[in-house]
Amino acid sequence: MKLLAATLFRGALALSAPSTAAAFLSPASQSLVKFPSATSDLRKSISCHAKRGEGYGPPLNNISETVGNTPMVKISDRICPKGRTIYAKCEFFNPLSSVKDRLALSIIEAAENDGSLKPGQTVVEATSGNTGIGSGCYDVCSAWLSCVITMAEPFSIERRKLMRMLGAKVIVTPKAGKGTGMVEKAKELAEKHGWFLCHQFETDANWKIHYETTGPEICNDLKDMNFDYWVTGYGTGGTFHGAGKYIKEHSPDTKIILAEPGAANLIGSGLSTDRNPDGSPACSHPAFNPHPIQGWTPDFIPLVLEKGLGQSIHDELVDIPDGAAVQMSQALARNEGILTGISGGATMWAAVETAKKAPEGSVLVAMLPDTGERYLSTPLFASIEADMNEDELEIARSTPSFILEPVS
Ligand SMILES: Cc1ncc(COP(=O)(O)O)c(C=O)c1O
Repeated sequence: MKLLAATLFRGALALSAPSTAAAFLSPASQSLVKFPSATSDLRKSISCHAKRGEGYGPPLNNISETVGNTPMVKISDRICPKGRTIYAKCEFFNPLSSVKDRLALSIIEAAENDGSLKPGQTVVEATSGNTGIGSGCYDVCSAWLSCVITMAEPFSIERRKLMRMLGAKVIVTPKAGKGTGMVEKAKELAEKHGWFLCHQFETDANWKIHYETTGPEICNDLKDMNFDYWVTGYGTGGTFHGAGKYIKEHSPDTKIILAEPGAANLIGSGLSTDRNPDGSPACSHPAFNPHPIQGWTPDFIPLVLEKGLGQSIHDELVDIPDGAAVQMSQALARNEGILTGISGGATMWAAVETAKKAPEGSVLVAMLPDTGERYLSTPLFASIEADMNEDELEIARSTPSFILEPVS
């Protein structure tokens, strides 16, 4: 939270300096970042729907009541091509800071309601992390559930620790087994121990929650204007399938842009995934290669995604080139005060590229699935030092007291 607070403070400082452009040293870029003056678009763009100080509303019964209703935020022309408008749908406003809170809650509620999840039963799921973080929390909310997560080795350490912090047990599967390995392990554990398997890659409860919440939220929030493009990537394909289906039905002129890593061009390859009778993948997809966009594109085409693709929901497929996702995620942090993960950077890159080709006046919405704080140990933060750099040391030495010299 400190990181986020610092970035927001930067923006606040700019706003509190009415006559001059505020200048602030950006440790990450080693350069002076200039913020616009108070007369700029930055200030004009402040439009909280509830006034600060009004309060949130009556106290909630538990944290799961805060899932969904995430805000959309306008991207400035520091990133958005001139004459176009891009709104970021900020899913890190969910209580566990990702879009997967919606699905985790939906699966558990649906299974409780139809009786397939019994009191006291353990919940098990294969996940790149965000679903597990959500499940860990909502199991705790249910008070009588416990949670076991299988997760492949390459996903960030932060995810493992967060899930354990939330009371889940995390079974790490070998890197060589890829996504299909962690899915297979979860199935095996469920069968052996009689646990409830979430089946996030196959269950209709996944896309349905996005049909019932994510899609309507976007259309409702933009009801006074047409939006021309909606841009998303896919992990399970739940967001794409559910929100995409809703948007196609309620805003038929909106074009849906689906993105995938250039290195793992599964949809682009035109090859399908062989399935087991329960819809889970029977083997690894031949077009898969390891890629840095955690949470996106496992080494198979999930059934939830395939069902969406079968309804011709998307109008265009965009490949994300190497490095573009991390660069855009860093640019969002430095230019917009928006701290999102690598998949958020990838989606925004696809949105910006789409905007460049779109007619003047076009409005785009890009999904930002999670928070950047979940990536401290990944390439997203590889260029961010923990120790003071030369510029910072120079500032420290510019006054006499409390100088922490580096130990050589
Ligand atoms: C970081 C991140 N981005 C995007 C996604 C994709 O969401 P969906 O599973 O709805 O396709 C996920 C899903 O795990 C994720 O963890």
